Amino acid sequence: MADNSLRIERADVVIVGGGAAGLRAALAAAAAGARVALVSKVYPMRSHTVAAEGGAAGVQPATGDTFEQHLADTLRSGAGLSHPVAVEEVVRRAPEELIHLERLGMPWSRTPDGLPAVRPFGGMSHPRTWYAADKTGHHLLHTLFQATLRSPLIRRYDEHVVLELLTTEPSPAGTRAAAGAVEGVVGYDQARGEAVLWQASTVILATGGYARAWGTSTNAGIVTGDGLTMALRAGLPLRDLEMVQVHPTGLPGSGILITEAARGEGGVLLDAAGERYLADYGLGPVTEPGSPEAGRMELGRRDALSQAFWQADRDGRTAATADGSVVYLDLRHLGDEVLRERLPLVRELARRFAGVDPARELIPVRPAAHYTMGGIVADVRGQVRDADGAVVAGLFAAGECASIGLHGANRLGSNSLVEALVLGAAAGTGAAQATARRATPPPSPALLEARARELLAPWLALRGRGTEPPAAIRREVGQVLDRHLLIFREAAGLQQAATALAGLAVRLADARVADTSAVWNTDWAEAVELHSLLTLARGAVQAALAREESRGAHQRLDFPEAAAVPRHSLTTAAPDGTLTTCFAEVTDA
Ligand code: FUM
Repeated sequence: MADNSLRIERADVVIVGGGAAGLRAALAAAAAGARVALVSKVYPMRSHTVAAEGGAAGVQPATGDTFEQHLADTLRSGAGLSHPVAVEEVVRRAPEELIHLERLGMPWSRTPDGLPAVRPFGGMSHPRTWYAADKTGHHLLHTLFQATLRSPLIRRYDEHVVLELLTTEPSPAGTRAAAGAVEGVVGYDQARGEAVLWQASTVILATGGYARAWGTSTNAGIVTGDGLTMALRAGLPLRDLEMVQVHPTGLPGSGILITEAARGEGGVLLDAAGERYLADYGLGPVTEPGSPEAGRMELGRRDALSQAFWQADRDGRTAATADGSVVYLDLRHLGDEVLRERLPLVRELARRFAGVDPARELIPVRPAAHYTMGGIVADVRGQVRDADGAVVAGLFAAGECASIGLHGANRLGSNSLVEALVLGAAAGTGAAQATARRATPPPSPALLEARARELLAPWLALRGRGTEPPAAIRREVGQVLDRHLLIFREAAGLQQAATALAGLAVRLADARVADTSAVWNTDWAEAVELHSLLTLARGAVQAALAREESRGAHQRLDFPEAAAVPRHSLTTAAPDGTLTTCFAEVTDA
């Protein structure tokens, strides 16, 4: 910061994050009459939602699908950690959100008779994934973004880095309990080079997950869990951090997603010898190439497919490459027309990033971290809950950063976009209503400003100091997680990971931020993100160690059975950053 300036902005609702959940929340809050500040560390069209490919789940009754089947598939995938009330709410509201999106201009792919088309995804008993070719996230984000441009009540703050939740009262001595209501957020305007306080009666966190912590990941570099660690530092618990979904088909090296839609359209997986290997690992009986069947072979659940890769690798059935072992996705039998109409992005990605044309050649693929099921504890209205289950006044969360009990221990593919829409809408409306209901006046500007400066100071002090290169630390965090916290885990490896990450945290305390510029200081912003990633990596490893069972995405070689009673892990932070993990029963909030 060039000087001691602090810009103050006021709104009814401040939303952090410009992806699907944040934009949908902004539209809902504005529709309810609230003045919205929409703050994003990137231009919204660069949010990670843009990378979603395969589609969004919603019952399409014309195909014979039912809410009950969507509910059952989601609960089965969640392996005991999903909350039936939350699942039912999202499942029932999904189709109306997808139709609402269409009315805003979303170009859903269609059947010959004009209905929105649906395709099958892994773990589904029935095809129900609405799609726009294989660029669903791109079109969905465009549609929402364009709608926000039409609202005079939504003011955007692009490329502003939010750093902390603004709570008025300092935490009680010795605890990190969230004290007082949330009164806004504080952050930094990268273009103007000044600190900012957004004062608002309600805050919605829609900041995404943290799967970029893994070295091999389908996620964009910006997916660093910032909202989760803001909540953690404000004294709130994070739920089920150890539950990370590993997608079976990332490109080697880059981790770029090759959508499950490719398998939904009939693509098959082959081992190094060209054999359909999945039946040998419990996913059979073998189906015809090009004729996928619900729940079998390539349409098994994602976690099962990633586990099958791990087994095949151990059995020497994968091919070695400079970027690790791979199997192959075969789309050749689908033909040019299917590739052009339904999987154009897959074709382009395979050509550009793997140097193969899927119409004629096999695509090398390997598992990559994809989605984090855990997050800020919230109910199905998006209201954030504290460790006692009480509503945190003024704070909402939606999308991947929130854990509302939908995904449980393993997310059903294509349930995330729809969660972002349904919960974004609920949080936006709820936040606008909570703002309108607020009875107490906001704290004095002087008090807010003093508190904002207190919260900002440690972050702004990161500039122009330190010796440890953050890029090296970030790379090592990824390597540790890839090695010890991916498809299968065990105590010895997790202990090694915990020790390694503790060492990296010591090094991060001395991170080198050589650039002292006030504007566009990306050195600094990346160091800030790394603090978040490393905290969540430590939390995930700790929770994985504590969870002595195998359930959903969390598979322990040393504890292969599921515990009789499913429980959530809850991780909290002490003032010195020490993380503690305990377990809580699974109840609908
Ligand atoms: O493979 C995919 O298109 C992923 C979709 C999802 O994660 O829901």
